[in-house]
Amino acid sequence: MKTYKIACIPGDGIGKEVIPAGQEVLQALAAGGSDFRFEFTSFGWGGDWYRAHGKMMPDDGLEAIRGMDAILFGSAGDPHIPDHITLWGLRLKICQGFDQYANVRPTRILPGIDAPLKRCGPRDLDWVIVRENSEGEYAGVGGRAHQGHPIEVATDVSILTRAGVERIMRFAFRLAQSRPRKQLTVVTKSNAQRHGMVMWDEVAVAVSKEFPDVRWDKELVDACTARMVNRPASLDTLVATNLHADILSDLAAALAGSLGIAPTGNIDPERRYPSMFEPIHGSAFDIMGKGLANPVGTFWSCVMLLEHLGEPQAAARLMAAIEEITADPKLHTGDLGGQARTADVTAAVISRLNNR
Ligand code: IPM
Ligand code: MG
Repeated sequence: MKTYKIACIPGDGIGKEVIPAGQEVLQALAAGGSDFRFEFTSFGWGGDWYRAHGKMMPDDGLEAIRGMDAILFGSAGDPHIPDHITLWGLRLKICQGFDQYANVRPTRILPGIDAPLKRCGPRDLDWVIVRENSEGEYAGVGGRAHQGHPIEVATDVSILTRAGVERIMRFAFRLAQSRPRKQLTVVTKSNAQRHGMVMWDEVAVAVSKEFPDVRWDKELVDACTARMVNRPASLDTLVATNLHADILSDLAAALAGSLGIAPTGNIDPERRYPSMFEPIHGSAFDIMGKGLANPVGTFWSCVMLLEHLGEPQAAARLMAAIEEITADPKLHTGDLGGQARTADVTAAVISRLNNR
C-alpha cells in the first residue's frame, strides 16, 4: 500500500472550507479499494498566522513541507492585510521557493454549466493555459525611491531569462503534444515589449524544432482575448508569461461558467520539490464561513494532484464524479445560480465515488 503525504494549507477565507472538502473527497477515493492511502498534514498559515506571528508562514516553513508528495492549497488574501504581503509571504514563497515554474490551468465547460458564450457549443472550449510561474512580471524586481515626495518613483521590472523561457516553452510544447489536437498558441506582446518578448518569440521558434508534430502559432495577448471569445475552438494549449496568463486564465474561467470551478497546478516538472494544487478562486471574504463556497475548483485540483502523483485511474474516477454532479442543477452553488451548499456538493461527490 502506497502512502502519499499531502500538505494541506487552507489559507484564508473560503480556503478553510474547500480544502477540508477536498481532503474528504480524496479520503473517500483512497478508501474505495485503491492501492494507496493519504497522510494529510495541515498547516494553519495565512492571515491568522500573520496576526499572531507577524508573518504569513514560519521562516522554516518550506522545510516542513519539502518532503511531502504534494501540496493542496486553498487561497491567500485577507481584507485587513495588504494583498502584496499575503501573496508574497505565502503562495509565491512556495511557488518560487520550490521552483514550481509551470502553472497549468485547464478550462472546459463541464456538463450542466451555463457558460456565457452562446455562439459556441460546450466542446468548442477545451483549453489548457500554461503560465510561466517563476519570473516575468512577478519576478519581484523593482523598487521605490523618494517615497512620499512629488518626485516619487516606482518600478516593477519584468525579468525573462533564456533558461526560464526555454523550460516553460519545452513544457508547453510537450503538454500540447500529449493532447489530441497537438496544437499550441504562443501568446506574446513583442510588438510593444521589444526586448523580453522578442526573446520569448525567438525561443519559441527554437524549441518548436524539437516538436515537429505540434502545430503552433503566435498570438498577441490583446488579440488573444478576442479570439477566446470569438473563436474558442481555434485554441487548444496556450503558453504565456506570468501576468499575461494570469489575466487570460480569469477570462477563460469566466467563459467556462465560473471562477468557482477552475483548478490549477503549480508544477515542478523535474520533481525536485512537491508541486502545489489549488482552486483558482480567491479567498472570497463576502461568503466565507457560510458554507456557500463552490468546492468543485478544489475537487478538480485534486484530479490534477492525482494525475501528478501517477494515479490516472483515480483521477479519472474523480473527474467523472465531478461531471455527474455539475450536470445536476440541484447541486449548483450560488456562483452557478444554484442554492446548494459546500457540504451538499461534497457529499454528492463522495456518494458517486462510493457507487462506482
Ligand atoms: C492567480 C491569482 C493570484 C495571481 C493572486 C491571488 C495574486 O490571481 O493565481 O491567478 O495573480 O497570481
Ligand atoms: Mg489570477
